[in-house]
Amino acid sequence: MRLILLGPPMAGKGTQAKLISEHYSIPHISTGDILRKNVSQNTELGQQAKAYMDRGDLVPDELILDLVRHELDATDLDNGFLFDGYPRTIVQAQSLSSYLKDKDKPLDGVILLRVDEKVLVERATGRRVCGNCGASYHLKNQPPKVEGTCDLCGEKAVHQRIDDQEDTVKNRLNVYKKQTEPLISYYQEQENLLEVPGASTPAEVFQQVLALIGA
Ligand code: AP5
Repeated sequence: MRLILLGPPMAGKGTQAKLISEHYSIPHISTGDILRKNVSQNTELGQQAKAYMDRGDLVPDELILDLVRHELDATDLDNGFLFDGYPRTIVQAQSLSSYLKDKDKPLDGVILLRVDEKVLVERATGRRVCGNCGASYHLKNQPPKVEGTCDLCGEKAVHQRIDDQEDTVKNRLNVYKKQTEPLISYYQEQENLLEVPGASTPAEVFQQVLALIGA
């Protein structure tokens, strides 16, 4: 299965990506996760990307295109793949289309998660993530069993992402509208956009995704 997960910040892309990639045993490629890893390791890319990410702006296309090309060349794509948070601009989408055409690996679908803005803001301000393994929690909907400690890896590293503070969240939503929403028409024109309402529970959203992609 060759898929893209598209949707605004906090739509649940990371949550669904984990379920889908496990279900199909396909690599999950999250540009957000790759960038955060570079920031935490203080690499050159991380140093260049950090200020954009902290403000909630997109990291410039030139940096992202290099990063993704490198990641794709290092990933076995034979059984499929799932992109989460990429592409986010028309330039990125065109670059991906041309890469996949060269490799003769056309997309099976682009899944668009639709969620109301009010729900998105609530999700962001309640989200907590593990700085060690990346697991995601929500203070109200899905808190860790022990406050501040990750259920999965046991590290006391559960914290709020800098870009989940309210003002930054508003900027991320504006950036999504301006720079990423145009991808909806881009993929509609290619007739492979599949819309899923993303406001029900993660398990229910996942069942709807499977129903749409015919699993
Ligand atoms: P990235 O990490 O990709 O952030 P995002 O797209 O803003 O997405 P989020 O991780 O905030 O949310 P999500 O949709 O994955 O939802 P999640 O499942 O976590 O990017 C971060 C930054 O990196 C960007 O701002 C940019 O600077 C840079 N960047 C990344 N990619 C880039 C690119 N291609 N080009 C340029 N710059 C790039 O869920 C959110 C919360 O809701 C969690 O608490 C979760 O538990 C909860 N939740 C999830 N689903 C449900 C549900 N169904 N019901 C109730 N709660 C739910």
